Amino acid sequence: MAQSLRLGVNIDHVATVRNARGGKLPDPLRAAALATKAGADGITAHLREDRRHIVDADIEALMRELTIPLNFEMAATEEMVRIALRHKPHAACIVPEKREERTTEGGLDAAGQHNHLKPMVARLRDAGIRVSLFVEADERQLEAAVTLGVPVVELHTGRYCELEGAAQKAELERLRRGAALCGRLGLECHMGHGLSYADVGPVAAIPEVRELNIGHFLVGEAIFVGLEVAIREMRRLIDEARKGST
Ligand code: PXP
Repeated sequence: MAQSLRLGVNIDHVATVRNARGGKLPDPLRAAALATKAGADGITAHLREDRRHIVDADIEALMRELTIPLNFEMAATEEMVRIALRHKPHAACIVPEKREERTTEGGLDAAGQHNHLKPMVARLRDAGIRVSLFVEADERQLEAAVTLGVPVVELHTGRYCELEGAAQKAELERLRRGAALCGRLGLECHMGHGLSYADVGPVAAIPEVRELNIGHFLVGEAIFVGLEVAIREMRRLIDEARKGST
């Protein structure tokens, strides 16, 4: 039997809707509380450099009020390291960030940025934060993660979700190989980005995967069925796929 699979709910886009009007509603903290009630195992929030969705006050409120772990997504900058060290969230996931991108495009170049990342990872780790790197399912990147001393990587599922047919199958195979390599290297394997009801099953069935982080689809689906119902349905699909995995 595969080990249990945690669901991290990313609430960034509740903040996107709030910020469209500049007021206080909808409140990402209320979304986090509902997600908790619906069975989320953790809350994920990405404080981007331009604060386009989550803002500093959201992180403060989440750290104060959350009853489940916060996974703080951050770029590898001095500003973000300082914020993470101030709040000491359960986990910090280092992601690549470009100002002009619409969402996180591609994984972090952990191998190419080794010298930049090493001291940042060490400072976060020394503060007791569980550090992960958001990377492509690529041998070079996974080996770099080991060298950097992180316990966790999150493999980027964006391309898998965008592709169709044989190309999607090939990308799923690449994710499977990446997850298996994580197992051999002693890295805990998470996955996320772009996942929806339509494509979560095959990823959830990969036995080495221990956590999925899902946001945009759930917030979109919440418009039609409510956040709690959307999360419960995602949880059901994940559990069902997991049952069939070995
Ligand atoms: N994991 C990481 C590292 C991300 O950067 C994001 C997007 O912020 C997600 C998961 C969630 O992706 P989505 O919102 O497309 O479900």
